[in-house]
Amino acid sequence: MKVIVVSSYDELSISAAEVIEHQVRVNPFSVLGLATGSTPIGTYRTLVKKHLEEKLDFSRVTTFNLDEYCNIEPSNPQSYAYFMKENFFSKVNIADHMTNLPESHAEDIEAVCMAYENKISSRGGIDLQLLGIGRNGHIGFNEPGDSFKSDTHRIKLDERTIKDNARFFKSIDDVPRYAISMGIKTIFSAKKILLIASGVDKAEIIYEMIHGQVRPAVPATILQMHPDVTVILDKDAAALLERRRTFN
Ligand code: PGA
Repeated sequence: MKVIVVSSYDELSISAAEVIEHQVRVNPFSVLGLATGSTPIGTYRTLVKKHLEEKLDFSRVTTFNLDEYCNIEPSNPQSYAYFMKENFFSKVNIADHMTNLPESHAEDIEAVCMAYENKISSRGGIDLQLLGIGRNGHIGFNEPGDSFKSDTHRIKLDERTIKDNARFFKSIDDVPRYAISMGIKTIFSAKKILLIASGVDKAEIIYEMIHGQVRPAVPATILQMHPDVTVILDKDAAALLERRRTFN
């Protein structure tokens, strides 16, 4: 695991965007795994800037998002489909049919999950997966205790996640209780993983992810076993790490 500590959220966003840019320039047909949440907003903003000012071309890229809330239409501003459109897809040259999110308002959830896995495989798997991390250690919506062997599946959200995400909704009662998420196995199958975290709220879980025992109770610890993970942190998120520079 390569850990890079930068001084601010803005620097983190630039560094993360550069990793994605490199991937897309080296392989314009890249399959990107994308994430939502507050952390990647600056990364998307930087990628949009690179598209507009440096001709970064997304026209041949395919994307798969990590997750989506259940029973939420893509037109709902709280949906992750809406988030992606607002922050990224509508601002770069990527056609709708090249972007994928789990169809969580569908009736047959199992079929949707299987179709998502099959579509990822049919595109040759994910080349680079962008991840945030929940304060409880979740990646995607894989909550503490979820199996490391899981494929895309429906998940009951953890109480802590519901509380953390309530800030995006009118009230905590409006936060959906279920979501569809790529499983840990799906995420782990990505050829490269880029995890970003910002703020002192994440310091404890970042320490645990890097130094803790690998266990389903802290889903992100599985990343210790992956051969190609880059973690980019601002100094607040890195506050509990012993060393402040890159180490392997
Ligand atoms: P955040 O969410 O970027 O809003 O902190 C990260 C996550 O829950 O994966």
